[in-house]
Formats: sequence, structure tokens, C-alpha cells
Amino acid sequence: MCGIFGYIGPRDPVPVIMGGLRSLEYRGYDSAGIAIIEGQQLRIRRCSGKLKNLEELLQEQPVTGQFGLGHTRWATHGRPTEENAHPHRDCKGRIVVAHNGIIENYLALKRKLIEEGHKFTTETDTEVIAHLLEKHFQGSLEDAVVKALAELKGLYAFTCVCVDDPQKIVAVREGNPLIVGAMDGEGFVASDVPAMLPYTRSILFLDDHEVAVVARDGIRLLDTAGNRRKPQFQHIAWDPIMAEKGGYKHFMLKEIYEQPVAIENTILGRFSLDTNTVHLEDIAFTNDVWQEFLHIRILACGTSWHAALAGKYMIESLARLPVEVDYASEYRYRNPVVLPDTLFIFITQSGETLDTIAAQRQVRAAGKTLTITNVVGSMTTRVADAVLYTRAGPEIGVASTKAFTTQLACLYLIALHLAKLHKTLSDSEMRKALTDLTELPHKMERILENSKRIEEISKGLFRQHDFLFLARGIHFPIALEGALKLKELSYIHAEGYPAGEMKHGPNALIDENLPVVFLAAYDPDSSESHQRYEKVLNNIKEVKSRDGIIVALGNEGDADLAESADHLISISPANEYLLPILEVIPLQLLAYHCAVRRGCDIDQPRNLAKSVTVE
Ligand code: AGP
Repeated sequence: MCGIFGYIGPRDPVPVIMGGLRSLEYRGYDSAGIAIIEGQQLRIRRCSGKLKNLEELLQEQPVTGQFGLGHTRWATHGRPTEENAHPHRDCKGRIVVAHNGIIENYLALKRKLIEEGHKFTTETDTEVIAHLLEKHFQGSLEDAVVKALAELKGLYAFTCVCVDDPQKIVAVREGNPLIVGAMDGEGFVASDVPAMLPYTRSILFLDDHEVAVVARDGIRLLDTAGNRRKPQFQHIAWDPIMAEKGGYKHFMLKEIYEQPVAIENTILGRFSLDTNTVHLEDIAFTNDVWQEFLHIRILACGTSWHAALAGKYMIESLARLPVEVDYASEYRYRNPVVLPDTLFIFITQSGETLDTIAAQRQVRAAGKTLTITNVVGSMTTRVADAVLYTRAGPEIGVASTKAFTTQLACLYLIALHLAKLHKTLSDSEMRKALTDLTELPHKMERILENSKRIEEISKGLFRQHDFLFLARGIHFPIALEGALKLKELSYIHAEGYPAGEMKHGPNALIDENLPVVFLAAYDPDSSESHQRYEKVLNNIKEVKSRDGIIVALGNEGDADLAESADHLISISPANEYLLPILEVIPLQLLAYHCAVRRGCDIDQPRNLAKSVTVE
């Protein structure tokens, strides 16, 4: 996600806009820019890197004017360079745009606009908007916006200004947040509330398919057909710090709740129900190259390693290719046997984890490498042969949440793509797998809407000293992840374990003081999944017979589970290979609430760093 801020009014727009961008810096910080209009002049200043680089540039090369807009970028398309920094302009430099989100059909639009004579200067999807506005501009900026919207596909928000239709800022929301405000002859546009609070608490939250025309004399609201709408302003009582976290107490909690949108963004444009295919255009492998891979090895650290382990189950079950998973920190020091035709997949949210990058450099001669990362332009992307981006937006909390679930979504897409190429799934199985994916964000929302239960459960458990997390099959990596979340957030010792292994030793740990979290959800359309579930039920009964405390996560309406559980968490049933994305959410929340009750530092847990760039 990125930060957008626009201002029009009697003040000098530069400090107002820069102040707005500073409060939005948590939304994106790999490059920044500002555009100011003074009479017939449009002046732009842009920088890669942190916002302070733009501030220094403005010191050296100041700009003045009457109104304008600014942007802090979290790159999704195009490296975080000065050239790719927003705002982006049309051919003549008369219109500029600052954008947040993804234009799904930008490549097709770009090709068409180039054929029509437009000259592009960046790698971004955003620049397409500027040229579309230029194409449709006939004197009214908002009319040009309405026409351009008819051609744009994706989830996005953008704002724009034009030298030839001055004294207004036009803002659009199509899936990503954008707010506008007006007060005493001033108008504001922002991605989020913190930027606007210093100026006004009367705020209009744009709905999807709405266009706002912001001027000194107020705000006109239009629908995407250009018809007037009555604006409904809201009064915001938040303090600015609370607002930076979107009203959440911690960034981590905000990021847990962002997961449905993060998944939507990650899968957007990467599959088609019409053609019943996955299309990973952003991965620089042709289908011939994909089909050369007969072995897969996935390397990662920490939470990303848990995603790798779940990816193993997905790819082996769906595409029938052998997958090995290694801790990157271990792989570097053993003398592995690498089979020919191996694809190495690296998973790293930050793209900078030293152990992962070092392993990536080490294997380059042994086979092709694909990296799954959340940070455009990070080191891993410069070492890999191909990149698949999670589009989770900046993950500020040290404990990884939305990056993890979007990594799982990427692995699911890769598994289906390989299954299609190797013909290991029938057309109907592929269609169901893709349809199940489209239903995922809604199922995630439902879990988040019913999360009060998990806070209740944490009340009775946060004083415990040890936890076990048990599961079978593809759910075992999620048991590991649930244990890691509890460890790193609440400093409670926790272990994830295969449920079937309990009888080989760990059963000795069970007593009335040991909470055991069982992952017992299953796919009702899969007999293997149900058989696995029945074995987990038996494990639950074994623990119950030894007075263990049972925390069970299962399908809504599961009466057998309710009978055995001391604490029950219910989620809606789902596809076996997508259940991990759903069942990890309650475990993230359980760890979060236990940590809050224990007074731990949620966003910066002790001894930990967000990106581990040391060995
Ligand atoms: C997860 O909550 C931790 N923050 C940590 O395990 C993290 O996943 C690990 O350090 C790997 O980081 P990366 O994904 O940026 O490579």
C-alpha cells in the first residue's frame, strides 16, 4: 500500500503535503514524490528511499505554488527508483497522478496507449492512469477521470491534478481506501486519517466507485457515471497516534485484520476462472521452463520456513512433484545432494534475511531460483532468476502475519500452475481449487468478525508457562507457526508437534497444567482430510484422558469436537490446502491477546528484529 496526500487552499502546499506524507510513511517508504502547480507551471520533485531524502531535495531545489499532491510509495510494479516514484505524469507534463493499489490490466492498456502514440518513461502500472487521463481530457479533469475509470481494472485509489483545469484535486476510490476533507476554504485528500487530523476531523470516506472533486469551496461527489452524490461526512475522534494504526492498538493487530485485503491483492490478476488457469505473468519463466523442473527445494527462515513446509504439502499433493524444505541457515552448512532439474524457491518477507540471501547466492549454479517476497527491489529480487511478489503492503510488526498468509497464497498458485502443466488435476478439480480461492477473503473476514471468542480464551491461558500445538498433514506447519507466534509475542514456551508423534515421547508432558492447541478443521469434500481429522480427534481424547487442557480449532458445528474441547474455536470449512490460511488467524490472535495481557511489546518483541541481516 502507499500513502497519498493532496492539498488545495491558502497555505503554502509544500509543508502541508510533506506533513501529510510524514504521517503516512508507515504505508510506504521506498520512494516518495511531490507535484505542485503554480499558474501554468507543474513542478515535480521525486526521490528513491525514505521521505527524508525528498525533504533534503526540497531544501536544495524548493518548489512553490498554489496546490498539489504527494506520495510515499510501497512498490508493487517497478523497482523503488526515482524514475518509478510517484507522482507520474502524462506525455506533456500537464497532468500528474499519485496512486495506491494495482491496475490489473495495465500491460494491455500500456500497449494500446503506446500504439496511440503515448510515450512511457516508467515501469509502473500507475503511469497508465496519467496517459489515460491525457487521452480523455477535454477541459474537465473529473470528466476525464470518469472516462478513464471505464478502462481500468483492479483494486486501487488515485488522486490527480491538471494544469489545464486548475484549482481542483480529483480523487477516486476503487477498492483501496481514500478520504477527503474540506474546511474553511481548504481541501484535503489522504490515504488515511492520520494525515488529515491536524487540519480537520470532518472527513468523507470515499466508497468504491466514487469520485471526489476537491476545491477551495468544498467537495463535489460523483459516481463513476459522473452523477452527483450527496457526501456523508464523519467526525473522527481518534488521536493521531491511534489513527496511524488505523484505530488499532498495534500495527500487528492492524496487519492481522488487513489479511483478507492482502490476500485479495496477492491473488488479483493471477488466475482466471474463465480459462481455468493460473497465470503468473510476473514470473519470468516460460511454461517450457516451468516444465523442466522435476524437483523443488524451498529454503527460508522462521515463519517463512513454516510457509515453505506448507508449500511442500501443496505442491506434492497437487502437482505430484517431490519437494524438499530446508532452513536456509542450515542449508548453507551441509553438503546437500542437488538433483538435476531442481527449482529452488526462496521465501522471505523482507527480502533481506542474510541466511536466505547467502543460501540463494550459493545455489545459483545448481539450478534456477524463484523468490517469493513482499518487498519490491529487495536484495532477494536482485539475486533470483524470477520473483513472485506477495502484495501484503508494508508489514511493520516484527511478528509476521499478513506476509505469511500471502506467502501461502503464492505457494497455492504455484502448486496449481505446476499441476496444470503436469496435468495432475482434472479440469473440474482445477476449477474447484480456483473457485475455493475466490471464497477465501470472505471466509477470513468471518473469522476476524468472530474474534472476540479468542480474546476470551486468552484470559484463561495467558498465565500458562508451556503450550503444545498439535496437528497432522499440511496443518502441522501451522501448528509450528502458532507456537512461534506465542513464543515471540508473549515469551511463553510453546512447541508445535505432529499429533501422531505424541505417543513417541511428548505424551509424558501432559498434565492438568498443559494447554494443548489442536488444529482439527477439515475439508468436508476430501476423504483424506476427514480421515486425518478422525485421527486428531483420537489424539484429543488421549490428551483429555490425561487431564490436559484442550484448545481445539475446528469446523463450525462440529459437535464431537465441542464435546472434547475445553476451549473451542470454530471456522468455516474450506479446501484442505487453503485451510492453513484460515486456521492461522485464530492462532495469531491467541498469541496477540496473551501477549497484551502479559504486557509484552507487541510490535517490537524483545531480542527480535523485523529483518535479520546478521548470521
Ligand atoms: C516471524 O514472525 C519472525 N518475524 C521471523 O521468524 C521471520 O519470519 C524470519 O526472520 C524470516 O524473515 P523473512 O521472511 O523476512 O526472511
